[in-house]
Amino acid sequence: MADPTTEVKSIAVGSAGPGCKKVDPILVADKVRRQFGGLTAVDVEHVEIPRGLITALIGPNGAGKTTFFNLLTGFDKPNEGSWSFEGKDLAGVSPYRVARMGMIRTFQLTKALSLLTVIENMRLGAQKQPGESFLTALIRPLWIKREREITETADALLKRFKLDAKREDYAASLSGGQRKLLEMARALMSSPKLVMLDEPMAGVNPALTQSLLDHIKDLKSNGTTVLFVEHDMHMVRHISDWVIVMAEGKVVAEGPPSTVMKDQAVIDAYLGAHHDTDLGAVSPKTDTTTLRATAKETD
Ligand SMILES: Nc1ncnc2c1ncn2[C@@H]1O[C@H](COP(=O)(O)OP(=O)(O)O)[C@@H](O)[C@H]1O
Ligand SMILES: [Mg+2]
Repeated sequence: MADPTTEVKSIAVGSAGPGCKKVDPILVADKVRRQFGGLTAVDVEHVEIPRGLITALIGPNGAGKTTFFNLLTGFDKPNEGSWSFEGKDLAGVSPYRVARMGMIRTFQLTKALSLLTVIENMRLGAQKQPGESFLTALIRPLWIKREREITETADALLKRFKLDAKREDYAASLSGGQRKLLEMARALMSSPKLVMLDEPMAGVNPALTQSLLDHIKDLKSNGTTVLFVEHDMHMVRHISDWVIVMAEGKVVAEGPPSTVMKDQAVIDAYLGAHHDTDLGAVSPKTDTTTLRATAKETD
């Protein structure tokens, strides 16, 4: 394992800790707060996501991870706060425009459109559809060319995600795990700069998890930044360069995986609210660990 001090130096400015500044942040959030009635679901003072790396966002159920994703991508509106992507202010920007700027997310519960086929779902993930530009739409050779490019990209991704045999099947006929793969493949249709994955492994058959891990590592080698929510501590340890821990809406710890997983605040956060997890998993003494919520569905 890499020396954590070197990791911190190349990723964070100064020492690691909640809200620490990054050498090269792609996403910066400030004072983002979301309340549901009396419940403060998200209350993030400051957080920066490092560019070109894989960052895991962990924390017990109900910590506010999904809500934070929703806020950052425009699917929900905060009571207050500001955040920017590549220096561009994103508050109030619609999910569609956020996606066009290069920030794409997937959902904890998959949103594959079940009444469309796999290839149709993939085509929907493309940006700049043939009909979008008036001029392109008028000139038949242009839109035919664009449509062919979209189909080629979609087929290449389906092959990479081993979904090519399902190309003409309805998304409804796929297993939960295959739908997660489809959603991830679809997210890549537009070559995003930042991919946000909400529990990509939940419900995925163990036989597919290795390929999912490889896909995420591939993203990084292609220069894409990845931010993912995950309960599987083995996966977090294995593929993330940086870990951010949320509990009760706040960022309570962050740093390289090797140090964060030993942090008392992290252990407390899980012990406090995650009664259904394998607690041995976060003990500093054990290393080979899984902290998967037992309630998770499996394929
Ligand atoms: N639309 C909503 N209305 C009311 N409460 C919500 C809503 N969405 C989330 N919550 C609450 O906000 C808290 C954070 O939820 P969530 O962001 O889904 O957590 P996580 O993804 O970390 O498990 C939870 O207590 C949840 O019940
Ligand atoms: Mg969630």
